[in-house]
Amino acid sequence: MPRTEFISVGFHVPERVMTNDDLTQWWETSDEWIRERTGIEQRHWVEPGQEAGSDLALEATRKALAAADMDASELDCIIYATLSPDYFFPGGGVFLQRKLGIKGIPALDIRNQCTGFIYGLSIADAWIRTGQYRRVLLVGSEVHSTGMDFRPEGRDVSVLFGDGAGAAILGPTEDDGRGVLSTHLFADGRYAEKLWCESDASARFPRISHEDLDAGRHYALMEGREVFKHAVVRMPQSVRTALEANELSLEDVDLLIAHQANLRINEMVGRQLGLSEERVYNNIQRYGNTTAATIPIAVTEAVEKGLLNRGDLLLLTAFGSGFTWASAAVRW
Ligand code: UT7
Repeated sequence: MPRTEFISVGFHVPERVMTNDDLTQWWETSDEWIRERTGIEQRHWVEPGQEAGSDLALEATRKALAAADMDASELDCIIYATLSPDYFFPGGGVFLQRKLGIKGIPALDIRNQCTGFIYGLSIADAWIRTGQYRRVLLVGSEVHSTGMDFRPEGRDVSVLFGDGAGAAILGPTEDDGRGVLSTHLFADGRYAEKLWCESDASARFPRISHEDLDAGRHYALMEGREVFKHAVVRMPQSVRTALEANELSLEDVDLLIAHQANLRINEMVGRQLGLSEERVYNNIQRYGNTTAATIPIAVTEAVEKGLLNRGDLLLLTAFGSGFTWASAAVRW
């Protein structure tokens, strides 16, 4: 059975840069607080109402297609991971497909928040290995800025997030030893409300009311400390699981790319695993948390910077809303 390789990657972020200082026009916050607690220095936001998540995904996909010297018509399938779909339904995958000018191929939407890219990778890997699809486009794309809570109490969540998209084109490789070695997916729904958006929701009647809007139930709500506590345990655990599954050790790891939610979390993860700073790639400083897009954006940058080369062992891990968490071991 063939393995799944990353044929190419690409990413796109909107032009508009919002520094920490820029945010002080809305919230009582400071560059110092945000940097110290999260490592974030700036993030990119769309021009409101001008660019949707599927537009960012389109640009990221175009770059990945160009890097692979491929045309969109050669794709067999789209997997689109996001927690901020353009519309409640249909999912973002069909909008991306339409913008790519192709039709007929399946477009699957993944709703696993920060873990969406690795969940999507797992599905793509299964399809590629079994021969169902040969050229899979896997995208993580988010627009958070149009859903920011601009009330004073929104500061704890709103300063963390940015907009952006990352894409990977995946396909089979017969090059023995290379490709996705394994993926490992986890969830614990007992913590669903620790990081969630309550309304607009079909579980409620009405789905959204004036009272919901007044109470801000349509904004993301997070118990930050609780999420932090679980993230620093689950991500290292999932990395160890991936290594054990492949009879590899931490010494074998060339690069760890963890979900970019907080630089402090990733520093703790790196320390727990005994990985030196050079073996852990972070870019949250420039993009904030782009949820499903953090990993493909970071992978693209790592490739562009020459930090990830053919044959390297890459470990991916993510943790987020659900709670969901996941890891993947990839021989690049
Ligand atoms: O991608 C999904 C996964 N998400 C995560 O993994 C995020 C995990 N959590 C975190 O990264 C951190 O918990 C945060 C960065 C969200 C918050 O950092 P913290 O050190 O846990 O701060 P805190 O929430 O305990 O708040 C500490 C203080 C509070 O003031 P008091 O009560 O001590 O007076 C907050 O009101 O900081 C205050 N605060 C702020 N101050 C300035 C909260 N947000 C801000 C802000 N600017 N933006």
